[in-house]
Amino acid sequence: MTGSTTSGRPGSPAELAVRLRATGYLPDDGLATAAFLALRMDRPLFCEGEPGTGKTALAQAMAQVLDAPLIRLQCHEGIDASQALYDWDFPRQLLHLRALEAAAGASAEKLDADVVEASLYDPRFLIARPVLKALQTSPSVLLVDEVDRADDEFEAFLLEVLTEHAVSIPEVGEIRAKTPPLVVLTSNRTRDVHDALKRRCLYLWLDHPDLTREIAILRSRLPGVPERLAGQVAAAVRRMRELELLKPPGVAESLDWARALQLLGADELDVASAAASLGAVLKYREDADRVRAQLDTLLI
Ligand SMILES: Nc1ncnc2c1ncn2[C@@H]1O[C@H](COP(=O)(O)OP(=O)(O)OP(=O)(O)O)[C@@H](O)[C@H]1O
Ligand SMILES: [Mg+2]
Repeated sequence: MTGSTTSGRPGSPAELAVRLRATGYLPDDGLATAAFLALRMDRPLFCEGEPGTGKTALAQAMAQVLDAPLIRLQCHEGIDASQALYDWDFPRQLLHLRALEAAAGASAEKLDADVVEASLYDPRFLIARPVLKALQTSPSVLLVDEVDRADDEFEAFLLEVLTEHAVSIPEVGEIRAKTPPLVVLTSNRTRDVHDALKRRCLYLWLDHPDLTREIAILRSRLPGVPERLAGQVAAAVRRMRELELLKPPGVAESLDWARALQLLGADELDVASAAASLGAVLKYREDADRVRAQLDTLLI
């Protein structure tokens, strides 16, 4: 293994996998390789997959591995560059202006408009939003969560920032990252993100984990859950995923279900305990009705 340290950048996918596991995040080989390459190639990692497959958690785990702050930009419809980049602190600018006027009044001096304006746009009145904060913080992990919810214009803005690792603020000048942040973009694929943005990134599709890994995730996140119960929950959830439900359960729901069963004092999953806790795993009435009608076959 080259350059393997417990604090710096991992020297191989295998080392990254070990360090991710130490945070409680259990990767498969493909994920560890993609995340390793994103780090080493200074490329954003574009993570797509069903809800609850560990996209957001991957960014959180990477931040822990790198011992770097996680800076999160939650995308939504209508998000614009100013919400991602910076704002001016208007109330503080106003206070500053009043103070300048008061001082000038006291000394009967005339204020120079250019000087006043320059002092109003001092970096100390700049409120850094996530993208700017990530460029100013080295090292950092920038999570651009649910980028598919933003619109085309915002994507174009992201593309520019992710290519340049710098932004230009008219009153201040260029702000460039000392070390580019590790950028993790996530998408639930509610719409396709443009190829131009994807081209900049390494792509990772996150699938539901296989049975063994899902049991391991349950055991790692919920150490108090007995192995047998974890196995039953993971197996039942896998079968539910084959039913083409309106909202197939992700790992988040498996975790909630196991936790609910644990809180109900159930040490195994049977028809009664499953029926009592179904709301932890299924979120549509139609799905719950379908599953309830075939619980005995689902729980074999
Ligand atoms: N490989 C994994 N190892 C450990 N925990 C995991 C793993 N995958 C998912 N989880 C856990 O499952 C839960 C859901 O994960 P997360 O929120 O990251 O999913 P997501 O893909 O971002 O979902 P969404 O698309 O709904 O935002 C979290 O509690 C997370 O810690
Ligand atoms: Mg998420």
